[in-house]
Amino acid sequence: MTLTQDTPGAAGTTGGGACPVTGNRAAGGCPVPHGPKGLPVIGVAPTYFKDPAAFTLGLQQQYGPMVSVNLPKPYVLVTDPEVVEHVTKTNPDNYRRGELYKGFLGFMGKGMLTLNDAEWRPHRSIVAPAFTIRRVNEKAEEAVPATEALLARWAGAARTGAVIDIAEDAMNVSTRTMGKALLGRDLSEAALDYANAAAIASKVMYTTTIFGLNELLPSFLPTRYNRDKKKAHRIIDGVIDGVISSRRRSGDLGTDAAGKLLASGELTDQDIRDDLRTLLLAGTDTTGQALAWTLYEIARHPWVREEVEEEVDRVLGGHAPTTEQRGELPVTRSVIEEAMRLHPPVWQFPRDLIEDEQLGRWDVKKDTTLVLSTYGTHRNAEHWRDPHTFDPRRFRDGSAKERPAGSYFPFGGGRRQCIGKNLAMATLITAVAMISQRFRISLTASSVPTAAFITMYPAEGVHATLRERS
Ligand code: HEM
Repeated sequence: MTLTQDTPGAAGTTGGGACPVTGNRAAGGCPVPHGPKGLPVIGVAPTYFKDPAAFTLGLQQQYGPMVSVNLPKPYVLVTDPEVVEHVTKTNPDNYRRGELYKGFLGFMGKGMLTLNDAEWRPHRSIVAPAFTIRRVNEKAEEAVPATEALLARWAGAARTGAVIDIAEDAMNVSTRTMGKALLGRDLSEAALDYANAAAIASKVMYTTTIFGLNELLPSFLPTRYNRDKKKAHRIIDGVIDGVISSRRRSGDLGTDAAGKLLASGELTDQDIRDDLRTLLLAGTDTTGQALAWTLYEIARHPWVREEVEEEVDRVLGGHAPTTEQRGELPVTRSVIEEAMRLHPPVWQFPRDLIEDEQLGRWDVKKDTTLVLSTYGTHRNAEHWRDPHTFDPRRFRDGSAKERPAGSYFPFGGGRRQCIGKNLAMATLITAVAMISQRFRISLTASSVPTAAFITMYPAEGVHATLRERS
């Protein structure tokens, strides 16, 4: 850990039990997280919004892995693996979803992501059978036609030398795969405009989370924001309601996530809608961004590209991977894992404390909001060698055993770990393998700027030209 008693982060203390670091039982106990004061009213917002990712790393460097921030909403930024492990796995009973997740209610409703543990359990148990290894393997097959459609489009672009946007195309693969896998519906149809609606939903959730703007701007005002929001609701709800009514009409509810929810008999129609919206919105953007970042890093590192090409050529012989073959692509998997280390699509997520607790070497008061920073923890120099360097070998050279639990958590952890983790990984391995067999990507710029809102994505896309491999 980088924080010592002399740093600003260790300056304050609270009462409490014996501190595991100081051993102090008397008044004082452990240090409390400290951080920059910021400006009156707006806190540190100006610096944060200039570059949220750089802001996170800057705070970590200056104050250590537990930093008190006022954005102006106060929270504690966590980049300490031990604390991450404690919150997600060791003592999750002391945490609720909290204030920041309330911003998600507008689009996701009271679904699997936003509910506190007591109400969440039945939802997760009902949906879980749609995510067994067998079911995920079946559903991941949807990634093959989705990627084939992309390869067909790319063949044209390779012939003409047209510049394409990999980020947009990756989102298309993800949207098509997830729509089919979760709802049995192809959401990549342009006429449906789902991708646009999902992007607006994500912006609205972010704005309401960070600023609470929904409370300040009445929704009847005909602002662009309100018009976009209404349209996005109409599209997303239309998709979900269409699936629910057509399944009920046909009498065949299906065995996928939608089918499990409809057949349970335990949930209200509103619960079912909220869970389906949550699954879709949580699954499409994230997987699309992970694919975009992986292709971007492969294009930037010729030695990595060669390793992936060698592996997919040897194992797949020109075909799409089968379920078994997906397990025989350790290099491809490690490249995806490393891309999600440097660019975790869910770059941070919150929890609120129910009771005071000693977290690692810090005392934290009840009702404090913690923001667990995947991004900052994944780049914590204390636990990662050359933390900003893209090197997938670290995921297959045995060094994972030397890193503390909680140092890598792109899918969260503990009982609230992402339910779509295996589906996302199977989709990503399929798409990366199929693309690497056919095309080499040349970026038009050596690096791209990052946007970090609800998710972390290439702010202006990833522009590139393509070459068919002979
Ligand atoms: C690369 C892709 C993905 C990433 C990086 C990702 C990341 C995450 C993370 C970090 C969490 C934990 C949030 C928390 O604990 O507060 C989470 C939860 C969740 N994710 Fe994903 N996710 C991905 C793909 C998916 C997919 C494909 C689906 C849909 C099948 C999905 C559905 C969900 C749901 C429903 C939850 C809430 C789970 C619960 O609390 O029971 N995600 N995801």
